[in-house]
Amino acid sequence: MLSIWTDIQRRRLRAGNIPGHVAVIMDGNGTWAARRGLPRTAGHSRGAEALRRVTTEAAALGVKYLTVYAFSTENWKRPQAEIRHLMDLFAKYLREKVPDLVKNKITIRFLGGLKKFSPPLQKLMKTAEQKTTYAASPLLTVNVMLNYGGRAEIVHAANAALKVGEKKLTEETFTKYLFTAGLPDPDLLIRTSGQLRLSNFLLWQSAYTEFWFTRKCWPDFDGRLFRQAVRSFQRRQRRQGALHA
Ligand code: IPE
Ligand code: IPE
Ligand code: MG
Repeated sequence: MLSIWTDIQRRRLRAGNIPGHVAVIMDGNGTWAARRGLPRTAGHSRGAEALRRVTTEAAALGVKYLTVYAFSTENWKRPQAEIRHLMDLFAKYLREKVPDLVKNKITIRFLGGLKKFSPPLQKLMKTAEQKTTYAASPLLTVNVMLNYGGRAEIVHAANAALKVGEKKLTEETFTKYLFTAGLPDPDLLIRTSGQLRLSNFLLWQSAYTEFWFTRKCWPDFDGRLFRQAVRSFQRRQRRQGALHA
């Protein structure tokens, strides 16, 4: 149920400058679980719910792109059992949540080194993308970054450019070879769990992104905190090297 206060907050924010593209480093699942004496996997399971809440809030505020870091190129260093649980969770999410996305006119996309995932999981991703492709433009596009690393992406892009025989690249032509080709750069980047680093996320794209950090762990993240981040964004002056915004 939507409280009156939530509705008022949303209206106020919508009257201001809404970030078109929000990126999120969904961190702190393990910490959240450890604090409750639960296995790390319990934190990951709860994290999926937080993603649903944030997707709803982003759509309600009129955000156009939500890009979430779900699994990094470095996360393969984790114990096999944890990796397996995460893969099972991605599959469960895809089996259960697609009708909801369709109902709310939300498009889902998967970006990263996807070939490293099992064929059934790759198939689920492809089906979800197809089912959430609409004739009219979507309300919100959620980009799920999987087996993603900013450095790997830049090297992959450079190799892709070489392969098609590019002789001289510009910033504009180079971005066409990134996984995020066609997307605007993120306006706002949120990281949970109190860690103040990028951990190899969107290195190229975040050159002029505004950052917002919270000590809250990802499973506790909700619409209220998302609105708090957007409010902080609206108070900032983005200059991008010039003297005025
Ligand atoms: C983020 O939570 C989820 C993934 C990296 C897949 P973590 O698992 O990194 O949780 P912490 O940072 O150890 O608390
Ligand atoms: C970044 O978090 C990756 C994701 C949230 C998917 P990590 O937990 O892997 O980052 P570090 O290891 O704390 O830098
Ligand atoms: Mg972490």
